[in-house]
Amino acid sequence: MSDKRRKIMRALNGETLTPPPLWLMRQAGRYLPEYRETRAKAGSFLELCYSPEHAVEVTLQPIRRYGFDAAILFSDILVIPDALKRNVRYTEGHGPEMDPIDETGIRALKGDGVVEYLAPVMETVRRLRSELPEETTLLGFCGAPWTVATYMIAGHGTPDQAPARLFAYRYPKAFEHLLTLLADISADYLVAQIDAGADAVQIFDSWAGVLGEKEFEAFAVKPVARIIASIKARRPQAKIIAFAKGAGYLLKTYRQKTGADAIGLDWSVPLAFAKELQQDGPVQGNLDPMRVVAGGKALKDGIDDILEHLGHGPLIFNLGHGITPQADPSHVAALVERVRGWKG
Ligand code: CP3
Repeated sequence: MSDKRRKIMRALNGETLTPPPLWLMRQAGRYLPEYRETRAKAGSFLELCYSPEHAVEVTLQPIRRYGFDAAILFSDILVIPDALKRNVRYTEGHGPEMDPIDETGIRALKGDGVVEYLAPVMETVRRLRSELPEETTLLGFCGAPWTVATYMIAGHGTPDQAPARLFAYRYPKAFEHLLTLLADISADYLVAQIDAGADAVQIFDSWAGVLGEKEFEAFAVKPVARIIASIKARRPQAKIIAFAKGAGYLLKTYRQKTGADAIGLDWSVPLAFAKELQQDGPVQGNLDPMRVVAGGKALKDGIDDILEHLGHGPLIFNLGHGITPQADPSHVAALVERVRGWKG
């Protein structure tokens, strides 16, 4: 069937829909009891990501429960370093860890074979497209090179990505090589997801907000622009959402410089500025995930503000970052009901 009935695709094409279509970042996850159940069956987190059977199941769970307008492939941005043999592991209470990489390690990295290694992910995408309702958009994704590099250099998450920022100043050539390699691998990986059935893809630059102006240009804008140019050269119809969390004022030129079709906005983006950004094309966001945890008036007020400011232009309603494990599933149901009940 054509994109015509897939509302997220219509919004990505610049259409204003009333009410706006919606999905939530990290909509499959620990806040759902059915996710925790499948997660326990699957073994390790990476085994869950590489099991098409279980990954399809957890991707579909939030669609069954809430009927979101998009399903996002269940996987993780760190499957790329895993495919690069960085010994990625997820331990309870620690978040992701891997072997930290240095200058010599970067020089030795080989980018070939990554898409082949990630074949189970493409199988998940194929099965999803055949199992999802026709009207549901299927989103693929990857991490942006900067965000993936921060984990590769530190070997784990950090509060401000100081290790990667320091590394970039000390070893600019090696760092640029790493970002370029990650950009080229990511472009091939996203093309493979699109060919397997993803309708659109999102690039997550969750750590863009720790960068200075020049570094944002070099480490966030340039590699993401490289990915998007590479995808569009091969798949001109592809639609791409770029989410640079915490980028603030630097978002002003982010869409135009990267070539993204839509830009994701975190909750710190003022709605008046968001409206300005919407003059150039669709935006996605930007409810504070803590409003979903709080529920009640905090949730209603946050939703209404976004709809009032951004609902009269091309909008994909979403959170400003991933939903957290403390969110009450009934608050998500209330969110969906309120957005869907909006008359404009
Ligand atoms: O539903 C979806 O949105 C699809 C699945 C998805 C996951 N991670 C599953 C996941 C997506 C799109 C991601 C992206 C991701 N992963 C990002 C970018 C977006 C963001 O949230 O900033 C980043 C930085 C990662 C890396 C990562 N993966 C971290 C830091 C963690 C630990 C934090 C946490 O929430 O536990 C993960 C693990 C992870 N990825 C979980 C899930 C559901 C939880 C792991 C578990 O079930 O034990």
